[in-house]
Amino acid sequence: MICLTLSSPTLELCQEEIRKNREYIDMAELRLDLLDPEEMKRASLFPSMTDVPVILTLRRECDGGRCTLPERQRRAILVSALDGDFKYVDIEEDIKRNEVEIKAREKGVKIIRSFHDFEGMPEDIYSRIYRLSERGDIAKAAVTPHSVQDLMTLFRVADELKDVPKIIIGMGEWGVPLRILYRKSGSMLTFASDREVAPGQLSAKSLKTLYHADQVDDRTAIYGIIGNPVHHTSSPQIHNPGFRAINYNAIYLPFLVDNVKSFFTLAEYLRMRGFSVTIPFKTSVLMYLGNITREVKQIGACNTVVRVPGMWKGINTDYYGFLKPIFKDIESGRIKSALVIGAGGASQAIVWALRNRGVKVTILNRTLSHAEELAALNYCSYDTLENASKYEGTVDLVVQTTSVGLYPDFDMSPIEGFRFTGREIVYDIIYKPKMTKLLKEAEKAGCTLHFGEEMLLEQGKLQFEAFTGYHYPKGL
Ligand code: ATR
Repeated sequence: MICLTLSSPTLELCQEEIRKNREYIDMAELRLDLLDPEEMKRASLFPSMTDVPVILTLRRECDGGRCTLPERQRRAILVSALDGDFKYVDIEEDIKRNEVEIKAREKGVKIIRSFHDFEGMPEDIYSRIYRLSERGDIAKAAVTPHSVQDLMTLFRVADELKDVPKIIIGMGEWGVPLRILYRKSGSMLTFASDREVAPGQLSAKSLKTLYHADQVDDRTAIYGIIGNPVHHTSSPQIHNPGFRAINYNAIYLPFLVDNVKSFFTLAEYLRMRGFSVTIPFKTSVLMYLGNITREVKQIGACNTVVRVPGMWKGINTDYYGFLKPIFKDIESGRIKSALVIGAGGASQAIVWALRNRGVKVTILNRTLSHAEELAALNYCSYDTLENASKYEGTVDLVVQTTSVGLYPDFDMSPIEGFRFTGREIVYDIIYKPKMTKLLKEAEKAGCTLHFGEEMLLEQGKLQFEAFTGYHYPKGL
């Protein structure tokens, strides 16, 4: 079930939140602590104002809520609210036998026994969840993973407690896969929100219509994208609709990664079928691959990993995705020389692609030695970013491949003050924002622009073929 956490100050506004999200949700949680104080007293009316089952919650400040009332008063409010027809009530782990519990049991309201950890993950998480469920209640653990390893622990705990009625939530960005794959982890529900909230929270609309999270089952093939940062990615918007269009029971989701090795363990554990690779892992994944294509070998970077029998195989779709939008200009001779800013994984594919087509390339990079290494592999020249102005007016194409200018730091350019003549074709591979600072400056000078989203889409289509064996559906 997808459960919308209501966050409006009045019952009527909460009702409106449900109405707006009705087609995406199965239930809602009324957080009394987020209501205006006067509204709390009317809470018992709420279940009759909506057609979805409602969880009653009055969260204390120490558990991340806003309720600062003395405990006795807090419980009195919950008891009075239970006059309404709530289906569930959330009672914190440390609240022993009390009047809220007694009334809930009398009325047949299911109890969710919860504990929260905003700092990390309790060592005894397994036994705590198990204990909470002992009296037939639904155990709820909302904890804060800080690494892939922590995420893996949560999937494992969830798996081992397969038959225990539970809700396991990984708060923050690291927990996103668990929120999306809540059915895989045997959680009764996942929480969604209607407005811009904490990192990691997803809207009900994206859970339902982008990820189809409520339809994941044991046979769903899992794909994803690894990166750091990763949550700005648009790749889920390419692959998920593609999977649906070809009727493939599969899901594609973002994984924030700190350690590639741990991620491969998680990927095996989840029996993933493949994943995309973005900043900064395009080179560090190589050592975990059992098979690579000729392009990956020559480029030295991989942006696509697929499962083949007994091993992981690395492919590079960046180079062709990059070339496609400027292919004609290279073929026609309009592009003969290029300045490539950056010498990281993405740059490796781009420099190779250009050199492979006979374009003369100069690499400019912050760290000269990285530029030098890449230049030596591809027979091109190199320099530092500080010398960028030396190359003004000398090239047909300028390609920006670093992460400088990427959301949220969009007011930056790696070649601040570079003077374009207006004759250059300027291509920034960043796609969020579409119009980077560098591209704005190029546009002012009258240059022809190419955007990261063109490359993203082209490389994504090829990735889709590698993942599924099907062409990307037309018209999506
Ligand atoms: P990717 O695999 O996506 O290319 P990467 O391998 O981490 O990511 O490469 C990042 C590129 O952005 C590198 O060229 C890096 O320069 P260094 O070689 O000097 O590290 C460049 N880069 C990252 N942050 C930068 C910054 N603040 N200023 C200039 N260049 C930067």
